[in-house]
Amino acid sequence: MAMSANLYRGWHQIAFERELRDRLTPAALGHLPLVLIRDQDRVHAVDAVCPHRGAHLAYGGKLDGDAIVCPFHGHRIGIGETPGCEYMVRRYRTLTVGGLVFVLPDERHDNGFTALMEELNRTHFFVQGFTLVAHAPAELVVENGFDRRHFEFVHALKSTPNLRLGPGGHGELVIQGDFQAAAFESNWHPGGEGQASTEIGFLARVFSPNVCVSRLGEGESEHLVISGATPNGDGRCTIRVSVAVRARSDGRPPSESAIRALLRDSKLAYEQDLAIWEHRVHDAPSRFDDEDDLVIEFHRFCKNFLEAERSEQSRAHQAR
Ligand code: FES
Ligand SMILES: [Fe+2]
Repeated sequence: MAMSANLYRGWHQIAFERELRDRLTPAALGHLPLVLIRDQDRVHAVDAVCPHRGAHLAYGGKLDGDAIVCPFHGHRIGIGETPGCEYMVRRYRTLTVGGLVFVLPDERHDNGFTALMEELNRTHFFVQGFTLVAHAPAELVVENGFDRRHFEFVHALKSTPNLRLGPGGHGELVIQGDFQAAAFESNWHPGGEGQASTEIGFLARVFSPNVCVSRLGEGESEHLVISGATPNGDGRCTIRVSVAVRARSDGRPPSESAIRALLRDSKLAYEQDLAIWEHRVHDAPSRFDDEDDLVIEFHRFCKNFLEAERSEQSRAHQAR
């Protein structure tokens, strides 16, 4: 599988809102440099490279209405289609929910993510979680949920979970199963205390090779974990993990200790994965076996996001 050399054109978590500077923040999707623009309560993402002579607009540029004044020669660079600007940079679709900022390089790959996040924003509390940097291709992070055998060996689950593909409906890839999870039992899963093991229902909706929303547990004890893995362009990726939790039945916010425990457990699981990822030879050829069926399915899914955009420039031209 072609790993991070190509950019997958689906959703990426580009930042937590707390990482943003006042107006312009430099960011990157792999080798694609971006500027994140904070504009009142919205965040925009645009190409960072000045079309005049290549300056990075986030380093010293100044926001001026619908344009950025370039720090190199002072041209006004239009953000998207700005009348009166000779030079313009492309604007990408963004989504900011609960302090999480996402960017979509190609409109065709929404796959139901916007609708889900907007719905969760009405029904759940979001908690911005933690950030990790891994020496690994970003897609290996999401692929991990499809890797049946590693749960037993890396995460010490009592058995290989019965993972299977589930129904999607919006172009996303869905995987579901049950975990026999000893590690979770006394931390956040209320039914688990004192039991030898806890079976936790798991359903993950993978919206792109880089973004996954996993549901753990059901009903009152349901928690959602939102994971983003974004390539840094230097062979590493930035992993951002957050949770979304329903209000309690009396409308009060969910218990802080439960959220803390969930984030702690997620971080511990990532640290277990990192121990493998940091030393893995990422370009070694794979020799898959029968238990890698879901990994192969995930790779097939990823390929949809590599396709070059249909005459991007001609469409931009028509819009003018
Ligand atoms: S490089 Fe931006 S104005 Fe010259
Ligand atoms: Fe893992």
